[in-house]
Amino acid sequence: MTDVPELRPKRVFIKTYGCQMNVYDSDRMADALAPHGYEPTLAMDDADLVVLNTCHIREKASEKVFSELGRLGQLRAEGRHFMIGVAGCVAQAEGEEIARRAKGRVDLVFGPQSYHRLPELIARAGRGEVVVETEFPEEDKFEHLPAARREVTVARGLTAFLTVQEGCDKFCSFCVVPYTRGAETSRPVEQVLAEARNLVDAGVRELTLLGQNVNAWHGLDSKGRTVGLGELCARLAELPGLARIRYTTSHPSDMTDELLEAHRDNPKLMPYLHLPVQSGSDAILKAMNRRHSRADYLRIIERIKAARPDMAMSGDFIVGFPGETDADFAETLSIVREVGYASAYTFKYSVRPGTPGATMSDQVPEAVKAERLAELNELISAGIRDFGRSVVGRTLDVLIEKPGRQPGQLGGRSPYLQAVHMAGPERLIGSVQQVEIVSARNNSIEGKIVTPAEPRTASFIESQVALA
Ligand code: SAH
Ligand code: SF4
Ligand code: F3S
Repeated sequence: MTDVPELRPKRVFIKTYGCQMNVYDSDRMADALAPHGYEPTLAMDDADLVVLNTCHIREKASEKVFSELGRLGQLRAEGRHFMIGVAGCVAQAEGEEIARRAKGRVDLVFGPQSYHRLPELIARAGRGEVVVETEFPEEDKFEHLPAARREVTVARGLTAFLTVQEGCDKFCSFCVVPYTRGAETSRPVEQVLAEARNLVDAGVRELTLLGQNVNAWHGLDSKGRTVGLGELCARLAELPGLARIRYTTSHPSDMTDELLEAHRDNPKLMPYLHLPVQSGSDAILKAMNRRHSRADYLRIIERIKAARPDMAMSGDFIVGFPGETDADFAETLSIVREVGYASAYTFKYSVRPGTPGATMSDQVPEAVKAERLAELNELISAGIRDFGRSVVGRTLDVLIEKPGRQPGQLGGRSPYLQAVHMAGPERLIGSVQQVEIVSARNNSIEGKIVTPAEPRTASFIESQVALA
């Protein structure tokens, strides 16, 4: 990188929309700016640079950017001085369009593959150029993004995201991700391990590996062998301070035997799997180009449960995809009943320009989508309540994450990602405790600590000292 001037201490406000990968990316942008004198601020009013890290997945998400840019433009018109950048998936998809529509209100627009070049882009924008950077650069951004300072990682908490895979080659006919994140790429084993070591050394106890198709991850290890996600999780499990590993999001077709075996053999790999199916109807799955049938999906779940009988399932559903009939929708309701989800996310189909779904005939009226969404949500909520009740009476390992709302209360997560409330001293934060579950509410469960499941690690204690 050339031409990066020294900067005075400045403040950056990053507003994050969309998925967990954007949350991770926002932190990495902050990390890229830190050596150039930028401190993160939580107050937009305070910032010298405002970055909107955007999401393009549905129309509503995408349109938010333009209303936010309008608001920021107003502040600038009132005399506030700050630079405005648009990052993320809307930037990637509509770079030139944003620069045109928000003329004079945006200084730089840059896609997810350019985050390592942010300091240089800011310098260019500082010289009065409107920067639009949406090419996919040849270099690997991860090779160039600096690691966070240890105290920054400590302050970010006990659980962390770590992107291991990015992009998608699946081209589901409703989805913009293959266009906004590009082709599937996997980070090499040693690069992932190095980042994980930094996180764990700073007290991180739970890692969630991220990817648009995280289970398609395959990387070269130090011996030049290609290994799969199961092996990567085995290598991560060797980090002594790390208690839990999760990964998201997975495509049903990429649930390999290797990964299923990892669920059987690796106790740090949590028994909770987000495996979107989108629809229960074969006709709709085909129109969505999901590349698997309803029966394939159910068979995969059967195999997963054979490897890990207590696996809790999570999913994504779209209602009102073009051509979806009442009978198709009934199939979605029936697959929800059949699988019994511990959690699920539901969406009304949103037409995305440039995707095959956008030009399909038989678009479903909004009112029908709304009705179907309400019916599906009701069924899913009932299922989640049932799942909560099903763990009452069991003793679960709970990662204690934070103080609860009331004094003397603690908040944590079960292996199945349920929020757990219990009484206990704050010194237990960061440890995994055995908790007997005594009751279930709609969105959380309650329990009492019965025995310590493990002692706290030296690195955790050290990081708490650094925090204090
Ligand atoms: N990579 C993940 C999902 C990425 S997007 C996967 O393959 O499952 C997250 C979810 O948003 C999707 O699972 C889908 O349910 C939803 N989604 C994507 N495009 C959508 C659209 N055009 N309209 C409504 N929901 C959509
Ligand atoms: Fe989108 Fe399908 Fe790729 Fe998931 S698998 S990111 S839904 S195209
Ligand atoms: Fe949105 Fe991009 Fe994530 S479109 S869901 S921010 S990958």
